[in-house]
Amino acid sequence: MKDSNFLKEKNAKSLWHPMAHPADCLNTPPTIVTGASGVKISDIDGHEVVDGVGGLWNVNLGFSCQPVKDAISAQLDVLPYYSTFRGTTNDAVIELAEELRDFFAPDGLTRAFFTSGGSDSVETALRLARQYHKIRGEGGRTKFLSLKKGYHGTHMGGASVNGNANFRTQYEPLLPGCFHIPAPYTYRNPFNETDPERLAQLCLQTLEDEIAFQGAGTIAAFIMEPILGAGGVIPPHESFMPGVREICSKHGILLIADEVITAFGRTGSWTGSRHWGVQPDLMCTAKAITNGYFPFGAVMIADHVAATFEQDETGRAAIGHGYTYSGHPVGAAAALACLAETKRLNVPENAATRGRELHEGLLALQADFDVIGDVRGGHGLMCAIELVSDRTTKTPIDKASIGTVQEVAYQSGAMVRVSGPNIILSPPLILTAEDVRTILSSLRAGFAAL
Ligand SMILES: Cc1ncc(COP(=O)(O)O)c(C=O)c1O
Repeated sequence: MKDSNFLKEKNAKSLWHPMAHPADCLNTPPTIVTGASGVKISDIDGHEVVDGVGGLWNVNLGFSCQPVKDAISAQLDVLPYYSTFRGTTNDAVIELAEELRDFFAPDGLTRAFFTSGGSDSVETALRLARQYHKIRGEGGRTKFLSLKKGYHGTHMGGASVNGNANFRTQYEPLLPGCFHIPAPYTYRNPFNETDPERLAQLCLQTLEDEIAFQGAGTIAAFIMEPILGAGGVIPPHESFMPGVREICSKHGILLIADEVITAFGRTGSWTGSRHWGVQPDLMCTAKAITNGYFPFGAVMIADHVAATFEQDETGRAAIGHGYTYSGHPVGAAAALACLAETKRLNVPENAATRGRELHEGLLALQADFDVIGDVRGGHGLMCAIELVSDRTTKTPIDKASIGTVQEVAYQSGAMVRVSGPNIILSPPLILTAEDVRTILSSLRAGFAAL
């Protein structure tokens, strides 16, 4: 490895960073992370902090998960790659599919289609949804509905169902036939409704209205995150996702649960859908499936959807979709070890307990700092703080101030993530109570610096 002077000098010079302006990265070079252990990361200057971001919502078991590391290196020795395209497979992926079938049985999901990450999983689910209707002779069902504020990755299909202009405007025109309804976001919504249950009902009514307007027979699927994550951690009222399920079933519309961040324990339940007592038709997973150590994902498929494909005699069910790395044996081996460790540690239990402590701590910060307009969380280890320059007008805070909070928090012991006016927290699920206190005290120092 080159020395630290070289790395600092070249930082952001020859690469463009995702989700960043290239000029900003040149002016304010990113933190160079060079090591990690447990739930902590360390930078090139040897500064060590608790990672309040959990990698990027994916390192659920922390950075020292030896069984996953061992599984990856053992698999590299035996079979570093072989494809699962028609005609070949590998032993690791067969075993993984069986494990996932058991894991997702309570969600009613019994088949897996493997991908290289979250955006791939979303793209796969959208395509399979259209194909499902074509197999059944309803080829007119091509449209997709989704939530404003939702995040579904960056492929053209995923970006088209995304509900945030930041990921859309510079890439338009996107896929035709995608329509968005308001998110059940109590802090800001077009109904000025602050009661979560009433807001959920209003959003459901809007969904019914949009379906009537478009014509149910033109809609393939509704895609949603059980708890909106990247859009600013928006937990809906408990009636919302069951309500969506009911409406979709009534109109023959498939429900795609985008669980790229919520599957495998983050919400305090094994999946976000299970958290709300809902069985989706398709579920997108990725990220924590390998603890972030290998790019991998899986779309899980409900029994009745699988039956439609498997019983097809027209040929329309032949899948003309897949990735070179679908079912990669190293990813499959990582996922097998990760799943075993996730279950052994019963991570949802810790996520729920630590999540409660974190949420309560953030509410206490809100009482002390006017700049905190809204605190969201209370469902596992995913929380957000929305910052405003004025609580009455809810004017979003300026970029420089939120940057100060982030920088001072980092210097005080915690890496936190900034997204627009939000500070988003998604730490590893093996966090301790002391780590929670470190995150909270670091944020307190950040707010005190304003
Ligand atoms: C809900 C959701 N869907 C899809 C994605 C895209 O995943 P990836 O970045 O692995 O492509 C993300 C990433 O954060 C996500 O949060």
